[in-house]
Formats: sequence, structure tokens, C-alpha cells
Amino acid sequence: MAHPGTHSPRLWVWLLLVVVSRTAEPVCGVWPLPQQIHQSPDRYSLSPQLFSFTYGKDSAAQTGCSVLDAAFKRYFSIIFPDFTKGPENGLRYWSESKPFVVSVSVKSRGCDGYPGEDSDESYNLSVSEGQAVLRSVTVWGSLRGLESFSQLVYQDDYGSYFLNKTEIVDFPRFAFRGLLLDTSRHYLPLHAILKTLDAMAYSKLNVFHWHIVDDPSFPYQSRTFPDLSNKGAFHPFTHIYTQSDVMRVIEHARMRGIRVVPEFDSPGHTQSWGKGQPDLLTPCYRGDVPSGSFGPVDPTVDTTYKFMERLLKEVKYVFPDSYVHLGGDEVSFACWQSNPNVLKFMGKMGFGKDFTKLESFYMESIMNMTAALNKTSIVWQDVFDYRERPRAKYVVEVWKQGCYLCEMRRVTKAGLKVILAAPFYLDLPIPTHSWARYYIVRPLAFKGTEEQKKLVIGGEVAMWGEYVDATNLSPRLWPRACAAAERLWSDEEKTLNADLAFPRLEEFRCELLRRGVQAEPLFVGHCKHEYNGL
Ligand SMILES: *[C@@H]1O[C@H](CO)[C@@H](O)[C@H](O)[C@H]1NC(C)=O
Repeated sequence: MAHPGTHSPRLWVWLLLVVVSRTAEPVCGVWPLPQQIHQSPDRYSLSPQLFSFTYGKDSAAQTGCSVLDAAFKRYFSIIFPDFTKGPENGLRYWSESKPFVVSVSVKSRGCDGYPGEDSDESYNLSVSEGQAVLRSVTVWGSLRGLESFSQLVYQDDYGSYFLNKTEIVDFPRFAFRGLLLDTSRHYLPLHAILKTLDAMAYSKLNVFHWHIVDDPSFPYQSRTFPDLSNKGAFHPFTHIYTQSDVMRVIEHARMRGIRVVPEFDSPGHTQSWGKGQPDLLTPCYRGDVPSGSFGPVDPTVDTTYKFMERLLKEVKYVFPDSYVHLGGDEVSFACWQSNPNVLKFMGKMGFGKDFTKLESFYMESIMNMTAALNKTSIVWQDVFDYRERPRAKYVVEVWKQGCYLCEMRRVTKAGLKVILAAPFYLDLPIPTHSWARYYIVRPLAFKGTEEQKKLVIGGEVAMWGEYVDATNLSPRLWPRACAAAERLWSDEEKTLNADLAFPRLEEFRCELLRRGVQAEPLFVGHCKHEYNGL
């Protein structure tokens, strides 16, 4: 039995299985999973007193870089929360540790810039004895790397901090990784929005789609048209977003590498607009007389286009992002059909009885305005699905349940960029433990050419506001949105198995809790740092 060849093959298979199963499971605590990560059992202890962030000598960004200076401060408190709560807590680490320096190098400065669709978010992170070296092309890449770094640090049962030798090469799979909040159906206080942006950064989501107005209320306080919120908000002082509120959101997001894409949805979903802007909405008729109710925006009068042009001009100056969402969904024709002026206009334009031509005419007009302002329009898939499709370039957001991959195929076949939201609707209160249904989504699993697949710029989780306000926003978002975040960032080949992902997600949920995000539980048990009522 001494000869290796005589060992039972079963034993070898068993040994092999042990080795494979131990290495196949990604045990690292980074969520979303980096493209490449190698960790080793070499472990270093950290002490808050001997820990520092610094700019690499060859870095284009140096002290004074607003985005990174602020990130160093933020991540220090995230990594060492009990230390920052009081100095006496930190002293016990003094004796065992050696200095540890995180050196951050950026190729291009751009500290005052604004993240965009072409921003390079890639980074390399190398952790070894006494130092971590983080390299990236842009500051946005550094932010992603700092986030991963912060997730590598862990505490033992005595509260000492450790991290292991690690190599990470990372970049996002999709450039657009969005989260939609609806502030029309329920007003969300500023702190709830800022907190959501924090948690987005933890999950490496990078676009805040602000569905800021809709039928129920118009909380955006416009400079040009103050009556829109004066009359259309739930309350003209308490339930609005002032210009300074909006600037705060944009800056808070920018500091975390998050874009803010506002949505001004029209011609439908505009009931609240009508309160502060008379003559904007179509008067509906009963027989020969106005019924007193109003339908979608009136696309037949010049005043509508003058109004939209001024509003969009303001939007251009207030929101620096190159994208603006123009909505275009769920337009009901009943009111247009009832209105004699609309019918006359239809005749004059040669639209016959086809109201899809009218809605298309309207969307095309405002998309042209947006293009003239150098902005890219996003619209809901309805616009692409209109029987008469507008002749403009726009990005389509796919939201309808059913065969969303069929729609992805059609849109990309037409040469348009597309964002997938349909399988990522989180507002419905399905149980948290069914997070895997968002995880196993495969956005590119449709028949199409490589060129078509490249037109899929990303996806988005949507938190509609019918039954969501500040009381339940966080638990309904997190940790389920994390499942989508990993789908949109990580390599699909390495992350399709929800069972393998589960321990990492559990760990990440606990980390969210530790950082003050009220993320729902995924399991029976407890987190080390959870709030236990004491
Ligand atoms: C980190 O190092 C410790 C101590 O060697 C080891 O037990 C643990 O498995 C390592 N973790 C990872 C993710 O490699």
C-alpha cells in the first residue's frame, strides 16, 4: 500500500473534492464580487492609531482632491466605527499593530468632475504587509476600490481589526447600475434620499434615477415655475425639494461617484403639474362641454412646447448629468379623443384617428429639445412600442413584466441603447428571502449579435412609492437591491449560483446594519453588530 498508485481512487476523488469545494466557494466578504480576487491566509492586524490613507507619489490627484479627501474621512469611520465613537475604545489595539498605509493613486485628476456614462470605474487593489496599494484611472475608480478595501477589514471576537493579503482586479460589467426612487406618491425626506445614496455606494450602484414628480404630487421647486410645487406639492413648504435640497443630493451623490438622473415624466403622469400650470393639460370633454377633468399634457398647443422648453432648460442647468428621463409611459387616449381641438389638430396634421401618431409627435418634439440642450433622453419602453415610433435617438428603459428579454432584443436590433428594469421591481413586498429571483436575472440572455449586447448599458432597481415612504424604504430596498447590484457589477459566470452567494450576502447585510442601513434579515440568527435594543 506504500506505492501512491495503489491508493484507492476514491480517496483521491474525496481529497480533490475537499480541496475544490474549499476553493470554489468565494469566502471573501466583498459584495458585489470583484472580477478577480485572490485572498490568502496571511493576516495582518490593523490599529486605528497607526492606520492612514495617503496619495501615491505618482498620483495625479493629491491632497485637496475633494472627492478623495472626503472619502478617506468617511471610510476611516466606516472601517473603525467604535474607534471614532471614543478614543478610549481604540487604545487596546495599540500594542500589537504595525503602521498600515493605504496608498491611493489616480491617473487623471478630475476631482471636481461629475461621473458620467463613460467614466472608468476600474481599479486594482493589492494588500500586503503594512500597506495597500490602490490604483485607478479616475477618482470614481478609487471610490470603488476604497469600498472594496473597507469590506476586507474584519474584527475578531475581541474587537481587534484584521485583513488578509489580497489581490483584486476589478471593473463593472455594466456602466449603468441604477436605483429609482419615486418621490411623488410619497414624499421622501432628504435624509432618506441621502441614506439611500450611501447604501448605493456600498453596493457600487452608480445612478440615482430620481422619479421626482408624477400624478400625485410635484415636489420639485422650480426656479422658473414656482407654482408647480406651490400648488402641486403635498405641501408647499414641507413636502418640496428646494434648489438647495437638490444641490445637496447631487453633491452627496457626486462625492460617492453616483450620477443623478432626474425624470420629468410626460405627457401622461402629469396631473399634479396641471395645478400650477394652467392650460398645460388637455381638458376632457363630455359631449360638447368640458367635463372639468383633465387628461395628459395637451400636445396640440404652442404654449405646451414653450413651457416644456423652459422647464427642460432649467433641468439642464440644475442637473449636471448628460441624461434626462422623459417618461412617456402609460398615456391614455380617452381624454384626447374627447377634445374637439385635439381632433381638429389631428386632422390638420394628417394623423387620422391614430393617437399613437400624436403621442409620438409630442415625444419627438421634446426629445429634440433635449438633444438641442446636449442631453440624452431616456424613455420608458412604451415610447419604443408606440405603433408610430419617434424618429430620434434615445435610450429605452424596459419595465414591463412578461418577456422582457424579447423587448431587449427588439430595442437593440433597432440600434438603441437599453436599460433593464423589469425584473428588478422592488416595491412589491415579496419576502426578503426570495432575493435570489433578482440575482438570477440574465440581462444578456437574448438572441442577438455582439453589437446588440453592447447596447445593453445596464439595469436598474425600481422602488415605486405607492406603498413606500421613509418608514419602510430601507428594509424594502436592502438587501434585495444588493442582489441586482451584484448582477450588474460582477462576472455572471462566477455569480449565477445563489447558494454560493448567500454567505457573502448574509455577511454584507450585517455590514450594512453595522453602517446604519436598516437592511432586512435574510436568515434566522443574528449579526455581530446588530441593534439589539440595549
Ligand atoms: C484570512 O486569514 C485567516 C488566518 O490565516 C484565515 O483563517 C482566513 O481563512 C483568511 N481568510 C480568507 C478569506 O482568506
